[in-house]
Amino acid sequence: MRVNSLSNFLCFGRQYTKFSAVARRNASVAVNPADRDSTKPKTGIMMLNMGGPSNINQVYEYLLRIMTDRDMIQLPVQSKLGPWIAKRRTAEVQKKYSEIGGGSPILQWTTQQGELLCEKLDKISPETAPHKYYVAFRYADPLTEDTLERIRNDGVRHTVLFSQYPQYSCSTSGSSFNAIYNYYRTRELPSEMKWSIIDRWATHPLLVKTFVERIKEELAHFSSEKRDDVIILFSAHSLPLQVVNRGDSYPAEVGATVALVMQELNYCNPYSLVWQSKVGPMPWLGPFTDEALKGYIKQGKKNFILVPIAFVNEHIETLHELDIEYCQELAEELGIEKIRRAATPNVHPLFIDALADIVVSHLRSKQAINPKFLMRCPHCVNLNCDASKSWYAKLCAI
Ligand code: FES
Repeated sequence: MRVNSLSNFLCFGRQYTKFSAVARRNASVAVNPADRDSTKPKTGIMMLNMGGPSNINQVYEYLLRIMTDRDMIQLPVQSKLGPWIAKRRTAEVQKKYSEIGGGSPILQWTTQQGELLCEKLDKISPETAPHKYYVAFRYADPLTEDTLERIRNDGVRHTVLFSQYPQYSCSTSGSSFNAIYNYYRTRELPSEMKWSIIDRWATHPLLVKTFVERIKEELAHFSSEKRDDVIILFSAHSLPLQVVNRGDSYPAEVGATVALVMQELNYCNPYSLVWQSKVGPMPWLGPFTDEALKGYIKQGKKNFILVPIAFVNEHIETLHELDIEYCQELAEELGIEKIRRAATPNVHPLFIDALADIVVSHLRSKQAINPKFLMRCPHCVNLNCDASKSWYAKLCAI
């Protein structure tokens, strides 16, 4: 199969539309960004992500929320074992956050992305303005539940639930969506509010171009004699094999992003997709990033670029695991000649254009929810997924 037909075949992608001439013409009546906070938002963009502790005092609460979230992780006697593991891991994780400056930068990056996104949306989509972004984290402030309350209080007319994970996993995006469903199980929905969902965007052309630019920035640091032999290692957070075999779509969607990035780069270098951040004794999806580096060194390779391909902001796994543990400590141990790490998309202008195009295409489409989202994994045993997906089908009026 030709790679450029991959996104259509897998139904991952959303259509990339050039901002229309109508939107450009209407730009002159767009909302002044300075007024956005004081104006009742017509469209709320709820940016869903896992979040991270802003300082080391938040680490225990953050770990506790992860370890007791059954969508993220399933443990025996979770209500007891989860808090125990969280407590046991707190000091070690606090140390890691101290080594990257004392906290996670994910809130700052998401806030900047939201600001830039809404500025752009107000200009290119005046018919849905004013737009307001709402950060909604699963495990750290601002928590999803608190954000839902703010959206209700603001009287938003249309709320777009926008997953900030380009590739969908039931453990990450699915957990955020289930949390919203759980919140409304015991509460009335805001009357008159319209809802819709952007659940995945792994193959968006501007996301792909952003990664391409990030890789080119790093290739430029290698001498022309060495550049063509640099191995590009795309590194994504791994999953337990139990989750993969349940039918989680994340590994295939990450592979789709990688295939399109390499196509856009004209397959300029050798590359491989590897997986990082395994925890616990259970089997996880490999090959693991550190083991892959060891394997390639044994094969005589010397130069590498690590590319975080499944997260759009810098976070502990890029700043600590990739930068400190692999690019510094492991590289020294293995005698790697040169290794560099591509930046995450953050606020790259192409990435902000990608976010804006994804939202505008969504707002103009007739599809409030992706049919793929309403499907459960073939081996899903989580009854909450069943109830949640039925609820979303009604919420988004399918
Ligand atoms: Fe994937 Fe339930 S675990 S839908």
